Amino acid sequence: MGAEAGTEEIPLARPVLGEEEERAILEVLRSGQLSLGPRVPAFEQAFAARLGAAHASAVSSGTAGLHLALRAVGVSDGDEVVTSPFSFVASANAAVFERARPVFADIDPVTLNLDPSAAAAAVTDRTTAILPVHIFGYPADLPAFERLGLPIVEDACEALGAVHADGVAVGARGNPAVFGFYANKQLTTGEGGMVTLGDAALKERIDSERNQGRAPDMGWLDHDRLGFNYRLSDLACAIGLAQLERLDGLLAARARVAARYAEALAGIEGLGLPCPDTGGDVRGWFVYVVQVPHGHDRDDVLRALREHGIQSKPYLPAIHLMSFYRETFGHREGEFPVCEDVAARSVALPFFPEMTDGQVERVAQGLARVLGQG
Ligand SMILES: Cc1ncc(COP(=O)(O)O)c(C=O)c1O
Repeated sequence: MGAEAGTEEIPLARPVLGEEEERAILEVLRSGQLSLGPRVPAFEQAFAARLGAAHASAVSSGTAGLHLALRAVGVSDGDEVVTSPFSFVASANAAVFERARPVFADIDPVTLNLDPSAAAAAVTDRTTAILPVHIFGYPADLPAFERLGLPIVEDACEALGAVHADGVAVGARGNPAVFGFYANKQLTTGEGGMVTLGDAALKERIDSERNQGRAPDMGWLDHDRLGFNYRLSDLACAIGLAQLERLDGLLAARARVAARYAEALAGIEGLGLPCPDTGGDVRGWFVYVVQVPHGHDRDDVLRALREHGIQSKPYLPAIHLMSFYRETFGHREGEFPVCEDVAARSVALPFFPEMTDGQVERVAQGLARVLGQG
């Protein structure tokens, strides 16, 4: 319960799951084949077809997918991977897993995605990959990154449903692109992920490395390369197939809630809103993140929202300023000023497909009041 009598706390996120998912789970349970079964390729093929990608490999999480995708494009010990400091920590961690160095470059102040010219300036002769992130579901400027001529891995964990200005779906350009299916995502399998790819040989490598390094035609006991257990179960893939069936509705509902927010928050002076779609790019709505006006303490805003019965989160913190990154790589404040300013003011508001207009209104009024404008 919030402080306002009789009002339910508004959660940050809530998945939409129904009878289709229940039926799909029961079918798998009754089949007795809970892993390494037919739902895995079925989910991969349906997902790839939905995006227009040539191939897809299901994995146990977005993080696992990023790790395998970076290995697949050849990132290894001592390499550098140019990426965004304004992301979920897993995109940078995936490079560290391979003892490569994530080299950060600042973000575009409008889209909040990695700035292509800053990324270009960060490239050295040790750079083996660029890892742009489609942050908050807004398409990163892939044509600009592709002009750099280096292997690319796309972090599309937040960007299911997004489309580039040239009409190609995010994840269908042929670069390995990684999606995440955690419970707050556009499509969820509880935990899970998918790597979409244009190259059959890379899919074969990822399929092997997610399964302990086993070659497709080998028995259990022979492993011809180092691998991991990054498999996605048939139970998870069955949920994923059911969620894919309802994906159009889920994406449309998220876009509707975002449009309501844009109207309801438009009058708050100094508040930074998610950028509208421009130049033909289409956002795949994942979260609704605003930046509090300069001069307000973001953490005070979070506390005050809680007192109004509104869940919110400081999303996202700058990766380079996290303790591990400061201590391991010597990062300090001031290196990426756009990212640091945005990260220090960011607040994720409640956002989920079944959010009502009334709930959006309550959040907007609560935020206005907290900022002294209500
Ligand atoms: C941008 C980004 N990258 C990577 C991940 C990691 O995905 P997962 O939680 O499925 O490992 C997430 C998920 O939260 C994300 O938002």
